[in-house]
Amino acid sequence: MSTVIEDVIARKIFNSRGEETIEVDVITASGFGRASAPAGESRGKAEVVYYPQGGVDEAIKKVEELISPELVGLNADFQEEIDKTLHEIDNTKDFRIIGGNTAFAVSLANAEAAANSYGLPLFQYLGGYAAHELPYPLGNIISGGKHTCGKSPDIQEFLALPQGADSFLEAATANIKIHGKVKEALKKKDKLFSSGKSDEGAWVANITDPEAFEIMVSACEETSNELGFKCNFGIDIAASSLWNGRKKKYVYERSGKELDSGEQLEFIRQLIEKYHLVYVEDPFHEEDYESFAELTKKVKNCLICGDDLFVTNNERLTHGIKMRVANAIIIKVNQVGTLTDALETIETAKRAGYVPVMSHRSGDTCDWHIAHLAVAFRCPIIKTGVVEGTRIAKINELVRIEEFLGDRAKMAELQIL
Ligand code: PGA
Ligand code: ZN
Repeated sequence: MSTVIEDVIARKIFNSRGEETIEVDVITASGFGRASAPAGESRGKAEVVYYPQGGVDEAIKKVEELISPELVGLNADFQEEIDKTLHEIDNTKDFRIIGGNTAFAVSLANAEAAANSYGLPLFQYLGGYAAHELPYPLGNIISGGKHTCGKSPDIQEFLALPQGADSFLEAATANIKIHGKVKEALKKKDKLFSSGKSDEGAWVANITDPEAFEIMVSACEETSNELGFKCNFGIDIAASSLWNGRKKKYVYERSGKELDSGEQLEFIRQLIEKYHLVYVEDPFHEEDYESFAELTKKVKNCLICGDDLFVTNNERLTHGIKMRVANAIIIKVNQVGTLTDALETIETAKRAGYVPVMSHRSGDTCDWHIAHLAVAFRCPIIKTGVVEGTRIAKINELVRIEEFLGDRAKMAELQIL
C-alpha cells in the first residue's frame, strides 16, 4: 500500500446552476480521490477568491503547471503538508493566484485519495474510530431574497431542523415531510404557485415573510405530531444582501420596510420569540459584530450563526469569539480554501462552545464530501437542503454512513438548544 501521489488531474465541469467549476483527481499508487468545488450566490466579502483571472481554464493551467509538479511525489497522508504546499504555491492571503476553489478541490481530492489508499471511508480516515455521530440535517424549505428573483419572501431561507430524531434517516424523513406539507400549504396560499424551486430545492412562492413563518409553524407542528419528535425551524436572513450601506438600513423590498440596526435587532428578537426559532443565520451584515453580540446576549435557546460574518476564517472567528458575537458558525470549506484551514476554524469554534454547522453552497455539484466532513469533524448540524439532486447526494451519503456504522451510529448532541 502506498499513499505517494502519482498524478493530479484537473478538468472543467458544471455546477447545479450550470456555471463552470473545477474538478480534481488525485491519484496515489494505491488509491484515487475526486472532488469538485461549489459556488455561492450570496457570498461573504472576506471569502477567498474562487479562481485566478481567466477563470476555470486558468485554474486548470495552474494545476498542470504549478500544483501537480509540486504535489507528485509527496505523501497524500500528510494533509497539512499538502495544504501548506498549496498556500506556498499561491503565496497570497486569499488564494488569488491559484484560486480558492482550485485549492479546495485539490485538498479534498487528496484526503479522499489517502482514505481510499487505506481502504477507509473518508469520515473514518479523517475522524478515526471516534467519528460515529450523525449530524442533524438543517434543510431549506422556502427560499427568498437573493436566492430567488421576483416576488418572494425577503428572508433568504426558511430552514427545518428536526431534533430528537433517533436516527439520521428519521431526521431526513422529517425534513422531507415538512417540505411536502409546505408545498400543499403554498398551493392554497398562492393561486399562481406552480411548484417552482430555487437552486437549493426550496419552494419559491409569491408570499410574504409572515406568511412563510405561519406555513413553517404549521408544517413543523404537524410533522412533530406525526413522527413523535420535535421538528423546529430557523432562518438565514443573509442580511448583507439586505443591507444598504449608504442609507445604513436593512431594506426589505417585498414588505417595503427599512430598518436601522437597532430596529433590525428588535425585529429579529421578536421573530425568535414569536415563532420559537432555534436557528438564526446572519441576522446582521457581515461587519456588524456589535449587533450580533447584542442579539446573542438577549436571546436564549437559539443558535445565532455567522456565515458571511466569519467566512470559515479562523481570524474572523477568533475576533468574534472575543466579542461574544454568536454561538454557531457555518463551515463552508471553499470560503477559506483548504481542509486544514477549515479544521483549524472548527477547532477554534468548539473550544469556544460554538456549534459548527457544515454547509453546502447554493451552486453545488453531486460531490458528497461534506457528509463525511460533518461526521469526521463532529459537526452536530449539516446544512444541505432537503430535496434536489446535489442536496440529496449529501443526504443519501449520510444514510450510507449511518448504515456503515451500524450499532455504533448515534445522533449528535445538540446541547445549546
Ligand atoms: P451561498 O449562500 O449562495 O453563498 O451558498 C447560502 C447561504 O447564505 O447560506
Ligand atoms: Zn448564509
